[in-house]
Amino acid sequence: MTAKEPKTIVLTGIKPTGRPHLGNYLGMIEPSLVLAQTHRALFFIADYHALTTIRDPRQLARLVRELAATWLALGLDPQQVIFYRQSAITEIFELMWVLSCETSKGLLNRAHAYKAAVENNRRASQDEDAGIRMGLFNYPLLMAADILVFGADKVPVGVDQQQHVEIARDIAAAFNQVYGQVFTLPSALVNATAVTVTGLDGRKMSKSYGNEIPVLASPEEMHDRVARIVTDSRSTEAPKEPDQCNLFNLYRLFAQQGDIERVRHLYRHGGLSYKSLKEALSTLIVQRFAHARTRYSRLMDNHGQIDRVLVEGAARARAVARETLRRVRKAVGIDA
Ligand code: TRP
Repeated sequence: MTAKEPKTIVLTGIKPTGRPHLGNYLGMIEPSLVLAQTHRALFFIADYHALTTIRDPRQLARLVRELAATWLALGLDPQQVIFYRQSAITEIFELMWVLSCETSKGLLNRAHAYKAAVENNRRASQDEDAGIRMGLFNYPLLMAADILVFGADKVPVGVDQQQHVEIARDIAAAFNQVYGQVFTLPSALVNATAVTVTGLDGRKMSKSYGNEIPVLASPEEMHDRVARIVTDSRSTEAPKEPDQCNLFNLYRLFAQQGDIERVRHLYRHGGLSYKSLKEALSTLIVQRFAHARTRYSRLMDNHGQIDRVLVEGAARARAVARETLRRVRKAVGIDA
């Protein structure tokens, strides 16, 4: 057991919207698991956040289970980390209301996702808020409640979520301004790697681009996906610049230093076959996650175990959340 930094609380959530991909893993899951070894950590499945996009009950239930199994398979130790479903912590939703009373609407108007939706409507000459539901608008508010209810200091997220953590911090400061020091001010921990994981087409790896490589894909699927990485049509003999090649950028994230240098040399001096590099890459990824894949299948065959872990985690998390709500209710005067 490593010594923990008892004072710093690390918290992060993932939305169950699809199978985690290599960008999620390198950008967020792996760094979070490393932090959990030395900090008090809470990791959760943001199942109510997913309701903004997933409206199929069976699909949501399946995605929650798959995500839980993925985290556990990739090394989350539920003895070490408090691991739970957001929906099990009802205090979060109570806190969200209280926070909404201290949140200026303008702050949420500026949130990227809402702003982009408004911008789309404007461009299409539609009413600004056409098709926009309150879940999208209030998304950052629910996230603020997720974070503040546990007094989190550090929130590991991808760059796309950084603004949300800043909004949570602003809301906490606004509340404290009125009611005294109730909330810890959180800050985002952004991992730079998240930016550089590119997908099949060379753009940032993202489910919304459909260019992702799922971490725990079967060897066959991994092979098919990696084969679809877009490369140019230059011959094996032609010299190429490795650092401008999407395939090389992915290879670099998984290969050993010596192999990286050898392949870099082949690119520059000719002799690099995209096909064989793709085969090498898919083998590397499959090997790297072989244990996790076995654990994942075992967990998915035993739903009871996943559910048990989450229920136990929720009980531990709620003890913390209840204490925060006790202080909040007292601060605002709901409880004397
Ligand atoms: N919004 C995050 C995402 O889309 C998930 C999330 C919800 C989260 N609540 C959070 C992340 C609190 C960090 C802290 O990935």
